[in-house]
Amino acid sequence: MSQSWPSVSRAEMVTPQVIVVGSCMTDLVSVTPRLPKAGETIHGSKFFIGFGGKGANQCIQAARLGVKTSMVCKVGKDSFGNDYIANFTKNHVSTDFVGQTAEAATGAASIIVNAEGQNAIVIVAGANLLLDSEDLKRASTAISRANVLVCQLEIRPEISLEALKMARSSGVKTIFNPAPAVAQLDPEFFTHSDIFCCNESEAEILTAAPVNSPQEAGTAGALLLEKGCKVVIITLGGEGCVILSQEDPTPKHISTNKVKAVDSTGAGDSFVGALAYYMALYPHLCMEDMVKRSNYIASVSVQTAGTQTSYPHRAELPQGMF
Ligand SMILES: Nc1ncnc2c1ncn2[C@@H]1O[C@H](COP(=O)(O)OP(=O)(O)OP(=O)(O)O)[C@@H](O)[C@H]1O
Ligand SMILES: *[C@@H]1O[C@H](CO)[C@@H](O)[C@H](O)[C@H]1NC(C)=O
Ligand SMILES: *[C@@H]1O[C@H](CO)[C@@H](O)[C@H](O)[C@H]1NC(C)=O
Repeated sequence: MSQSWPSVSRAEMVTPQVIVVGSCMTDLVSVTPRLPKAGETIHGSKFFIGFGGKGANQCIQAARLGVKTSMVCKVGKDSFGNDYIANFTKNHVSTDFVGQTAEAATGAASIIVNAEGQNAIVIVAGANLLLDSEDLKRASTAISRANVLVCQLEIRPEISLEALKMARSSGVKTIFNPAPAVAQLDPEFFTHSDIFCCNESEAEILTAAPVNSPQEAGTAGALLLEKGCKVVIITLGGEGCVILSQEDPTPKHISTNKVKAVDSTGAGDSFVGALAYYMALYPHLCMEDMVKRSNYIASVSVQTAGTQTSYPHRAELPQGMF
């Protein structure tokens, strides 16, 4: 890396914390020569289980960079749920607010990948959809003391919105990642987001405008900014991202060192997790400097296979970034 990172002072608070209210999914991945047709049984060459779900992914990335993290989510009272909780602990994520329910299975994604890298995926959200207001209330003290709260849309949208409102009412910074995107998003999601961060296709769905270039991302970003969030970030894969803010509404393209992607799954979540880390621990960095670093961290994640397994730890990154 030829890039140099200007030194910065860390936050002065005792234990800055990132709280993620969101999803956990167990990925059940089969690698096959081709995708099966209806009614057909075929043999695959490899099977593995991975930990996923956008909420958990973002939380794990933030934790690996070295901030205190806590996950607010729901898994099933089943072996996948037990394994997920054990893995959060191994990653130093607090599981104080991870609930287990007997009413539904741990969220699961059955994934078939063929030799060309094409895939067919079935997602059963399961226990994720049972995360409710009571669960948020149990976490309310922790939420009110956090520095940054992050949510997405893989749980019931009203629960994400309630979490954003709880955070905002305590002066906690909010990052909202509207994924998977819906065309008719409740306008309150915008007014309760400090950072509204989505990818190109989500920006298209939300604005009904095409997003195929940094310039088009700027145009779509302006439409999103108008809806009342403080900062809009649209990620652009190897092109980095575009940022706009109420303070500086002129779209700014923050390019990155484009790398050859081995597996880009979860790159957006790595980016969001990294951004949450910087907002919690380095609140005095400007947004541009935070997203440059987040771009870099996400670019590391696309260079190895897997989702959470590809997320870098602090020790593996240039120390000038910290
Ligand atoms: N080929 C690449 N080279 C460098 N950085 C990349 C590359 N692909 C992704 N990134 C980094 O990852 C960030 C997120 O990527 P992207 O916009 O593709 O998110 P996404 O579509 O949500 O990811 P996912 O693949 O999980 O759906 C980008 O803003 C960039 O910083
Ligand atoms: C769970 O977390 C650890 C610690 O980060 C990781 O190294 C490990 O591979 C994970 N376990 C499984 C079964 O994936
Ligand atoms: C954006 O993210 C969604 C998941 O929310 C994914 O399905 C889609 O492929 C991504 N789009 C791009 C352009 O990467």
